[in-house]
Amino acid sequence: MTTKDSSGDVRLSGISKTYGSFTAVHPLDLTVPQGSFFALLGASGCGKTTTLRMIAGLEEPTSGTVFLGDQDVTALPPYKRPVNTVFQSYALFPHLDIFENVAFGLRRRGVKSVKKQVEEMLDLVQLGEQARKKPHQLSGGQQQRVAVARALINHPKVLLLDEPLGALDLKLRRQMQLELKRIQTEVGITFVHVTHDQEEAMTMADTVAVMNAGRVEQLGAPDELYENPRTTFVANFLGTSNLIEAEVDTKAGDDIVLKAGGGKLTLPSERCSASTATGGKVLVGVRPEKISLVHADDAGEIPDGRNRITGTIADASFIGVSTQYVIDSPICPELAVYVQNVERDGRLTPGADVVLHWSPAHTFGLDAAQDIDAGTEEEAA
Ligand SMILES: Nc1ncnc2c1ncn2[C@@H]1O[C@H](COP(=O)(O)OP(=O)(O)OP(=O)(O)O)[C@@H](O)[C@H]1O
Ligand SMILES: [Mg+2]
Repeated sequence: MTTKDSSGDVRLSGISKTYGSFTAVHPLDLTVPQGSFFALLGASGCGKTTTLRMIAGLEEPTSGTVFLGDQDVTALPPYKRPVNTVFQSYALFPHLDIFENVAFGLRRRGVKSVKKQVEEMLDLVQLGEQARKKPHQLSGGQQQRVAVARALINHPKVLLLDEPLGALDLKLRRQMQLELKRIQTEVGITFVHVTHDQEEAMTMADTVAVMNAGRVEQLGAPDELYENPRTTFVANFLGTSNLIEAEVDTKAGDDIVLKAGGGKLTLPSERCSASTATGGKVLVGVRPEKISLVHADDAGEIPDGRNRITGTIADASFIGVSTQYVIDSPICPELAVYVQNVERDGRLTPGADVVLHWSPAHTFGLDAAQDIDAGTEEEAA
């Protein structure tokens, strides 16, 4: 296609939802471009389903407007919107075979010759061989694909998916993530996918919106969100982050030098979302896999220009591909460090004195006036 079709854009303008005095979704502005795979990611109760239901027309927004392409659909009932939804419990018709389940939408619209379209759709989800089976004769993943085919046959401009893989075991889930991604690439329509699984969101989506308590905290490509989180919630919810309390010391060119404990840490200014007035507090972040670990006896071998912290190994878990260490340091308790299992240093056992070091380029800075534990499992518990 040469011309940019925008009829499958989803645009939310100031939409919100309140139930009595409780705000489930705060006024939200969001554009999902036509043909993209968009994920709404967040913990239970943060407002994902409510947002999706407002797009589908199943929930009336308290304020704001929903556009599909240029059309304001806010007042349209669900069946008049070019949108289909696949829910977690995909509720196929048990008495109909797979072919008829998929044909359902066409038959309801009075389409007479459905064979070609249904067959194409079954091929798309790779269930051509299963057409005459009943739903209970299929696996969970196959049933899920029937649900997708049943929705796609209506040629929606937008497909909404609310935790569609939630009922599947982990292995099948991973497989279906790739499968759904393939289908989306093939049909090229807009997918809005709701999940609380950060790995799922990152594998599938072009753009992820991280939601927290009814607000989108940050939106971006998966790697961008992961490498450059702007809030403690995003830093902790998407993977694991070490967050170290520090104080701005000086600025040197494009870098900020911070004081943490007795030592200094360097942070590129462009990777800092906090104010950097001298003396101001900043949370210095670094991902566990970016850190190298050496025994204190070898500290002399660490190249110049690296950020470094001394500490003691509190715990080491060997998990095959890597070893995950917990390091206690006077600067920060319980630092997580993941070391790829290439050559293991037998001295790196609990109790050993170590030095952690990493490139300043892998450091990010966050506003210290936030809950340092936001988005962690400890916080959720
Ligand atoms: N009809 C309703 N009346 C009152 N409160 C509601 C109603 N529907 C949802 N809520 C509240 O709104 C908030 C957001 O709900 P929502 O279903 O959107 O969450 P979610 O992000 O989809 O969570 P989950 O991952 O558990 O499905 C929750 O706190 C929920 O209790
Ligand atoms: Mg939900």
